[in-house]
Amino acid sequence: MMQLLSMDYDIDNIIIVIKYVAFYLATYFTLKHTILHSKVKGKLPPRPFLSFPIIGHLYLFKRPLYRSLAHLAVKYGPVLYLKMGARPVLLLSSPEAVEECLVKSDVFVDRPRLLPGKHGGNNYTNMAWSPYGDHWKNLRRIAAVEILSPQRLQILSGIRAEVAQSFICRMIKDITENDGIVEMKSAIFGLTLDNMMRMLIGKSNYVEASGGMEASRRFQKTMEGSFRVSGVNNIEDFLPILKYFKVFLGSPEEFMKKLIKEKNTFMEGLMLEHRELEREGNLSDGRKRAMIHVLLSLQKEDPHYYSDEMIGSLILALFQGGTDTSAATVEWVLSLLLNNPKVLKKAQEEIDTNIGNTRLVEESDKNNLPYLQCIINETLRMYPTGPLGLPHESRDDCYVGGYHVPKGSMLIYNIWAVHNDPNIWDDPRNFKPERFSGLEKTTLGYNFMPFGTGKRICPGEHLANKMIWLAVAILVQCFDWERTSNDLIDMEETGGLSLVKLVPLRVKCCPRPCMMNVLSEL
Ligand code: HEM
Ligand SMILES: *[C@@H]1O[C@H](CO)[C@@H](O)[C@H](O)[C@H]1NC(C)=O
Ligand SMILES: *[C@@H]1O[C@H](CO)[C@@H](O)[C@H](O)[C@H]1NC(C)=O
Ligand SMILES: *[C@@H]1O[C@H](CO)[C@@H](O)[C@H](O)[C@H]1NC(C)=O
Repeated sequence: MMQLLSMDYDIDNIIIVIKYVAFYLATYFTLKHTILHSKVKGKLPPRPFLSFPIIGHLYLFKRPLYRSLAHLAVKYGPVLYLKMGARPVLLLSSPEAVEECLVKSDVFVDRPRLLPGKHGGNNYTNMAWSPYGDHWKNLRRIAAVEILSPQRLQILSGIRAEVAQSFICRMIKDITENDGIVEMKSAIFGLTLDNMMRMLIGKSNYVEASGGMEASRRFQKTMEGSFRVSGVNNIEDFLPILKYFKVFLGSPEEFMKKLIKEKNTFMEGLMLEHRELEREGNLSDGRKRAMIHVLLSLQKEDPHYYSDEMIGSLILALFQGGTDTSAATVEWVLSLLLNNPKVLKKAQEEIDTNIGNTRLVEESDKNNLPYLQCIINETLRMYPTGPLGLPHESRDDCYVGGYHVPKGSMLIYNIWAVHNDPNIWDDPRNFKPERFSGLEKTTLGYNFMPFGTGKRICPGEHLANKMIWLAVAILVQCFDWERTSNDLIDMEETGGLSLVKLVPLRVKCCPRPCMMNVLSEL
């Protein structure tokens, strides 16, 4: 999903072009409202008055998109019907509206056919981009039962512990080599990447190459290319006319095609390798535990359905959905802790008191460290890394809050807006983990939904929670953290579709003296 959520493809150029076009077309706008929707089956939801021909309301969109959409909601209401260029879009910004459209109704379950779904979603057939129907249901079922079930995740807990330990060793090495200053963005990305690779395909660049942070940085570079292309940021999806201006804008479509080809080749090679090792009886335990092994075993029973292509695209979907989002979350947690040293201290005390300094924290310690969970939830509230979820589309005409919404409308729900609404959360831009203490999921309702909600809810929620929790727990237990200067950590957001820290986090860090005994034995 990061492929969909990250939006580093440069929207600024696009905005300039849009404004330029808008200027020329401004004179026509008054005619717009009377002509549109002549076959009205009821009143459409409200929309900001000024909608230009061709570009619709796109002129209102600024970086960061989730913030500018949240402003629109404050100004015009939580249910809006916008024209994003040629596409009608229903924008939801309140928990009630989200519940009505995504939980109580079955209409908004399709995905719009956007370019990333064509090239990055295997021609709209992978889990994230497939339309609602038997194929999608099957993919979700396989993921839920065979890959991401509590039992499977339990089997994989050993992998996550190993990954955590090797991460600590790399950190200590990096600290010594760089006089205590560490660039944490790559380090954390390497940790989640290692986790996802070992769980999904049973191998990882660390296992193979046993390189230091350098290996992670190199691999990150390769992957980053694929994160640049994303979901709703592809302006051509909304302004088909821009296809003609391609020469001036440069199109990510060619880039996307090339990337997906690279990735498919990578997956094919991987399956070949796996089968060969299995035939020779050389499969390591790590590979036998991996999800690719489970899927290739299912292939033996039903080779038609579990084709290589289907397995490859399923694994890629999980890989793309899980790596970037989880890493970005851990980076936000650490940044917030550095800007709030009292919270960091309290978290360390909680671990020292409940776990002690004679062993590393483990996943099974989770229930004994409630404050740590509050810190993570508060971070996901303030910085949900998929702030606009993925776009949905309606498969039928329907009514929302009494308004008529035509079939084929795109739906965007603004998770960020709900999480940062002062009417829902007191003083929302203030980091206060305590506000989550004693709260249960049931009382949180749709006020808190970092993983989205409804039929298309993130299938990786439990896995993400486990990975993020363990990463934060070991960072807090094993190391002391300080900012590199007196200035607060810069919390600026990239401003695209994903909510990623703009300036990579650099910190001063050292192993905690009280943990030396444990750390020296790793
Ligand atoms: C902090 C981490 C994560 C966050 C914040 C996050 C958030 C989200 C959100 C908001 C959606 C869109 C829901 C919707 O369309 O209504 C989504 C979908 C998805 N996520 Fe995640 N996610 C995270 C981790 C993961 C992980 C670890 C995996 C894989 C194991 C994953 C795989 C997916 C997939 C495949 C979809 C598309 C589901 C579908 O269309 O049926 N995500 N995620
Ligand atoms: C993508 O799928 C459509 C049917 O949904 C099909 O007509 C088209 O040929 C496919 N394109 C590719 C490149 O496979
Ligand atoms: C499989 O294992 C055998 C014996 O350990 C070894 O000789 C052979 O090279 C291995 N094959 C592969 C492909 O690694
Ligand atoms: C934290 O969020 C998770 C969902 O991500 C939820 O299950 C849990 O109950 C929350 N915990 C607290 C203390 O709010």
